[in-house]
Amino acid sequence: MSRKLNRCYNIARLRERASKRLPAPMFHYIDGAAGDEWTMNRNTQAFDAYELVPRYLVDVSKIDLSTSVFGQPIDWPVFCSPTAMNRLFHHEGECAVARAAADEGTMYSLSSISTASIEEVAEVFEGPKLFQIYVFKDRGIDREFIRRCKDAGYAALALTVDVPTAGNRERDLDTGMTVPPRLTLMSLLDIAMHPRWVWNHLTKRPIELANVRDRVSNDLTTLSQFFSDQLDRSVTWDDAASMIDEWGGPFAIKGILSAADATRAAEIGASAVIISNHGGRQLDTAPAPIEVLKEVVDAVGDRCEVILEGGVRRGVHVMKALALGAKACSVGRPYLFGLAAGGEAGAKKALNILRTDLERDMTLVGCRNVNEIDSRVIRDVPVWPVSRR
Ligand code: GLV
Repeated sequence: MSRKLNRCYNIARLRERASKRLPAPMFHYIDGAAGDEWTMNRNTQAFDAYELVPRYLVDVSKIDLSTSVFGQPIDWPVFCSPTAMNRLFHHEGECAVARAAADEGTMYSLSSISTASIEEVAEVFEGPKLFQIYVFKDRGIDREFIRRCKDAGYAALALTVDVPTAGNRERDLDTGMTVPPRLTLMSLLDIAMHPRWVWNHLTKRPIELANVRDRVSNDLTTLSQFFSDQLDRSVTWDDAASMIDEWGGPFAIKGILSAADATRAAEIGASAVIISNHGGRQLDTAPAPIEVLKEVVDAVGDRCEVILEGGVRRGVHVMKALALGAKACSVGRPYLFGLAAGGEAGAKKALNILRTDLERDMTLVGCRNVNEIDSRVIRDVPVWPVSRR
């Protein structure tokens, strides 16, 4: 591992390194979110509403981080969220992240709009895999995805429900971020300042939406246009229920932000709900996942696995989520910053930072395994009285 990567001892440092290595349009596509980015910022800040309460004089000489999600054993309770078009950030893209997930003993999730296909990822990664699905106007695409995921041995599907239309990503409007990139003069100048990225982009195979390459024109204008041209806005719970039946295995509804929707998900037979606001990239001012976690767990925790996605940058965030009842957390930006900062080694570094952080935090709090991370180790931050003068 390079010395610079080695010195990235937290996710913020990996982000900084990614910002130097990537041309601005690609960096801001990862880093940015919708509208005023209020929700994206709150996703992490909202963890500050809780404190962890250590319990000492517990034998913490052995810490067991292992757990399971979707019926699959994983070495620690964090896995990779699906994220779009990873080869824009490093030429090895999704396959590099999947290999990093394998090294770090966790599950990998592949996006429908990835730049490596369902089968390519299955070839490089034997571990537990989830496929993220959107409902396309051409429902044949989804039926084909389900068949291909079965053939390639994917363990679970997650239907993303928070993209009835694209979020208002203003940084992408500024940079002209498109797929494939069609950029403004400023962006082109910025790209020219990143010759390594340009070289890889020109010499490796072209970037394309690998899962739909034969079904959808890859001559796209913007991501938002792709969403509005291709995705079906008329999708309802009945469609989700049919998909669950057709898949017949572990299935998550991804993008849940209320107890009411979590309850609907449980009623139609979802085995998991992923609490998420799409990293703040869809509806700005939507609540942070940690804020709704407890009510979702109270509503469906006895029937569904509850997974928290959004804002996780530290081991203490994972501990807080588990203490409030999450089965596991998933992360997107952390490994994308790692991927951009250093390819497979960088993605692995990101996961390893979170894993070692979590192990240290469990030791400090006195939790020997994930089952011991419960309501006894968390409390609300007391509200300080407003001082009167
Ligand atoms: C894709 O899902 C994105 O959020 O850009």
